[in-house]
Parts: sequence; structure tokens; C-alpha cells
Amino acid sequence: MNSSRTGLRRAALAVLSAALVATAAGTAQAHPGKVGPGKGHHHGKGHPKPAASLRDLADRRHVLIGTAVDTTALAEDGAYRAATAREFSSVTAENVMKWEVVEPERGRYDWSAADELVRFARAHGQQVRGHTLLWHNQLPAWLTEGVADGSIDAKELRKILREHITAEVKHFKGKIYQWDVVNEVFEEDGSLRDSIWLQQLGPSYIADAFRWAHRADPGAKLFMNDYNVEGVNAKSTAYYELAKKLRAQGVPVQGMGVQAHLDIQYGFPTDLAANLARFDRLGLRTAITEADVRMFTPSDPAKLARQASDYRGLLAACLATKGCTSFTVWGFTDKYSWVPGTFEGEGEANILDADFRHKPAYEALREELAKRH
Ligand code: G3I
Repeated sequence: MNSSRTGLRRAALAVLSAALVATAAGTAQAHPGKVGPGKGHHHGKGHPKPAASLRDLADRRHVLIGTAVDTTALAEDGAYRAATAREFSSVTAENVMKWEVVEPERGRYDWSAADELVRFARAHGQQVRGHTLLWHNQLPAWLTEGVADGSIDAKELRKILREHITAEVKHFKGKIYQWDVVNEVFEEDGSLRDSIWLQQLGPSYIADAFRWAHRADPGAKLFMNDYNVEGVNAKSTAYYELAKKLRAQGVPVQGMGVQAHLDIQYGFPTDLAANLARFDRLGLRTAITEADVRMFTPSDPAKLARQASDYRGLLAACLATKGCTSFTVWGFTDKYSWVPGTFEGEGEANILDADFRHKPAYEALREELAKRH
């Protein structure tokens, strides 16, 4: 392993490792037998040794392994909670750090669900990825309606955005290791997305967002994040050029997040490692932030094998990139997934099935993490 990659990760992991040892045991006790170790490795007569979890293996590779967390499931489903604690060293709020949740009425903040997740993470020795400060989706109605009816003009909107970013980043100061500052700001052809942000504020809103976030928590690493930017294409190149330009201007853009929502009906993006490498050479960290691999259901062994191979390929590309310090799946069980609600006829996109059984994709991640390097 490249030494600067090791150095980068060592700092974060040193903090984690003591807590990991303590909580791994605690978790197993709190939920005995709920989440089995899968194919247990038997060492000697009658003494099955639990297989190492993803986070145990990732720890040895100096990479964080994360999941998006559905906080309703976390509160209500013990098996979900146990698996979240056991398998992952990083968590991302699937929804509860988004604007519509944290500021449902203008000036009234509600951090309760997000705080709960941060507490869970701390109790289980996990890091937290922040998602997301600026997006065109899941905005509160008071904001979108105010812009639409003209009661919020451009000057006011810029102030609202500054206050939102400042309040949220300050609230979680010191608790978030990476923030998705801007999410999905480019179209597929590499032009800036025609969102209310671009329409009202012009392209400078992106640099502003990074500057405001950095001022509020200089310790958090600030990311751009998008889908369909796995390979080298017009969209990922637009991010690359933007990062180059902003960094030359001293704007604190520090990372590129590749969501990696894949679908087995398409080819695997074989140039992912090459794409990550060019951001790496620019001095940015990289991360796989929302990995899942969907398929038309029901699954069959061939589809599950292809899914496993895609997950493995995503992880391998991250592990091959020195600044790729976290690999996050967008949910880990088919019991809770955004996919069936969005893509008709598709689903089964996660690494555990709806009964929390390990799918081939789970084993593929384990194998990849366990490889000698
Ligand atoms: O909170 C309401 C609840 O009160 C209501 O009863 C229920 C009825 O439908 O809806 C709930 O809100 C849903 C929310 O998830 C929380 O469950 C929204 O309808 C639903 O649209 C929303 O979907 C989320 C989606 O972002 C919104 O665009 C998904 O869970 C979430 O996985 C998804 O995540 C995005 C990333 O943030 C960015 N990248 C793509 C990724 C997948 O779309």
C-alpha cells in the first residue's frame, strides 16, 4: 500500500480502533444470534469462530466501510440496528440531514433524527459522513414555494443558503469527517444543472457553498457528489474541470464522491479506477458514497453473481486509489431500499437480502477486503 494513503487513514483509524474492539463485543452481546456471522469458520471441535465483519476487514485495509442509514428502521428494527453496528465503520444519513428534514419551517431547525444517528455512531465507534448541504431535491416547501411566488428573491435566497450551510455544519462541527457540500449539480452533458440555485444565484453558488462550509467546520473534508460519474465521461470531466478551477482559486473543494448506483443491465464502468486516479492526482480525496447494484426482480444465481462482481469492482477501484478513504453502500439490506419505489420492476440491490442473509455480493466485499495487498 502506498505510504501516504496509509498515513492519511491512520489518523482516523487510530481514533476508531480502541472503540471498535470494545463495541464489537458489546454489539454481539446486545443482540445475541440476531445477525449470524454467515458461514462461520470452524476452528477446532465445536468452537465456531465468527467470521470477521466487513468493518473488521476494512479496518485492516485502512479504509472506512459505510452504509446509508434509514433512521426509522434503526429505531424500530433490532436486526437492522445490530447489523449496522456490526458491519460498518461509517454511517451516512439516508434522509435526515437533508434540508426538508432539518429546517421544515424557516428558522426552525430540527436536528433530532440526525442527532440520534450521530449518537448511535459515537456509541458504536463509527464515523459520520454528512449528506447533503445543497441539493435540488428534498428542499422544504417554504423555500421552493417562496422562490416560485417571488417572495424570496435572489439576494434573500443567497442569504438563506448561507445561513442553512452555516447552521448545519456548525451544529455537527467536529462530528462529520466528510460533507457532501454540493450534490448532483451537473447534467449528463457536463452543463450545470438547471436548478433554482443556478437560476437564481448563477454558477458562483458552488464556490460560495464550499467557502461557507469550510468556515463553519475547517476540519471536515468537503466533497462534490453525483451519480453517473463512475467512468470518465462528460459529467465526471465537468467535475474534474470544476475542481481544478476552484482549487486554483483557493476554494476549499477537497473531495469527489462517486455515488455508484449501478444496474446489472448495463456494463460495469471499467474506467472507474482511472477516473478516481485523475481526481487523486489533483489532490482530492475520493469516495464511493452510495453504492448499490439493482436488477430486474426476481433475482437468480447468474444475476446475483453479476451483482457481486460489480460490488467487488467498485470496492477494488477504491482500494486501488490512495485517496479513496471510504466506501459506502446506500443501505445494506433489501428489506429497506429506495430502488423498488423508483425503478419499476427492479430491486434486490443490496448486499444482504430482506432477511439479513448474506448475498454473494456481501461475500465478494469480504473477499476483496481480505485480500493480501
Ligand atoms: O418522510 C416522508 C413520510 O413522512 C411519508 O409518509 C412518506 C410517504 O411516501 O414519504 C417520506 O418521505 C420519503 C423519504 O424518502 C423518506 O423515506 C420520500 O417520499 C422519498 O422520496 C424519499 O426518497 C429518498 C430520495 O433520496 C429522495 O430523492 C430516498 O429515501 C433516498 O434513498 C434517496 O437518496 C438519494 C441521495 O440522497 C442522493 N443520490 C441518489 C439517492 C437515491 O435516490
